[in-house]
Amino acid sequence: MYANILDGRKISQEIRKNIMDEVHKLKLNYGITPGLSVIIVGDDEASHVYVSMKEKACKMVGFHSEVYKLPKETTQDQLIKLIDGLNHNDKIHGILVQLPLPEGIDENLINSHILPSKDVDGFHAINTGNLLLGEESFIPCTPRGIIELIKRTGEDITGKHAVVVGRSNIVGKPVGVLLLRENMTVTICHSKTKNIEEHLRMADVIVAAAGIPELIKGNMIKKDAIVIDAGTRKVGDKLVGDVEFKEASKVASWITPVPGGVGPMTIAMLLENTLKAAKKKCE
Ligand code: GUN
Repeated sequence: MYANILDGRKISQEIRKNIMDEVHKLKLNYGITPGLSVIIVGDDEASHVYVSMKEKACKMVGFHSEVYKLPKETTQDQLIKLIDGLNHNDKIHGILVQLPLPEGIDENLINSHILPSKDVDGFHAINTGNLLLGEESFIPCTPRGIIELIKRTGEDITGKHAVVVGRSNIVGKPVGVLLLRENMTVTICHSKTKNIEEHLRMADVIVAAAGIPELIKGNMIKKDAIVIDAGTRKVGDKLVGDVEFKEASKVASWITPVPGGVGPMTIAMLLENTLKAAKKKCE
């Protein structure tokens, strides 16, 4: 038996179709066009590809989109000034600073300058804190996309065991909190964890977010587990995830491909968060 494939491209297309309808209504009834500003600093190739994808997705659903491409020499003060301007710009409902930032720029400090109501990435300490408290907040896009994919399996995950591999602020930590919210028992493994394989073998749901190509082999996965692969690395000219897909798909019940799994969901959730920010203007 081979695993069912969780097709992030198809699911995200459905979500984007709904967003397009909502944007149409928002324009018609309130004269509001959701607007997203994306800031990228430096010349990290992969980050530029992600930002182009975000820009294209915004245009496709009818958002107003602005991209600021800044040189790697940009100072924190310059970045903060740009963010301050965007915080006061009524055409902009969401602001995203693409990570990682060049060395010498403090990511948390920069994110703390984005108005929490425009923080569509959910990285401001207020949104992070509210996520932890279970209060209303913007939820980081990749973790939201991962939960949406797990829900699409239709499997009952209550009380089951999730193992997250990776403890980044972008994916590992927030997805751990969200899985807890879904009443799962959560283990977060990381580079210092002893015997990762032992943890993995007990997992009903695996979320791989380590950024280490094919770290997780088929023989580390429990039969019928749900396997979500949020790792993406370029190996030669191929994109490779954290999971050895071919062997894992012989054991898992559901699995995401790389590319075409978590990636498109991240963008769909960014569009949803931006739409939510714009809708707040009509309340
Ligand atoms: N870099 C990798 N993923 C993300 C993300 O979701 N948001 C931002 N801002 N940067 C990223």
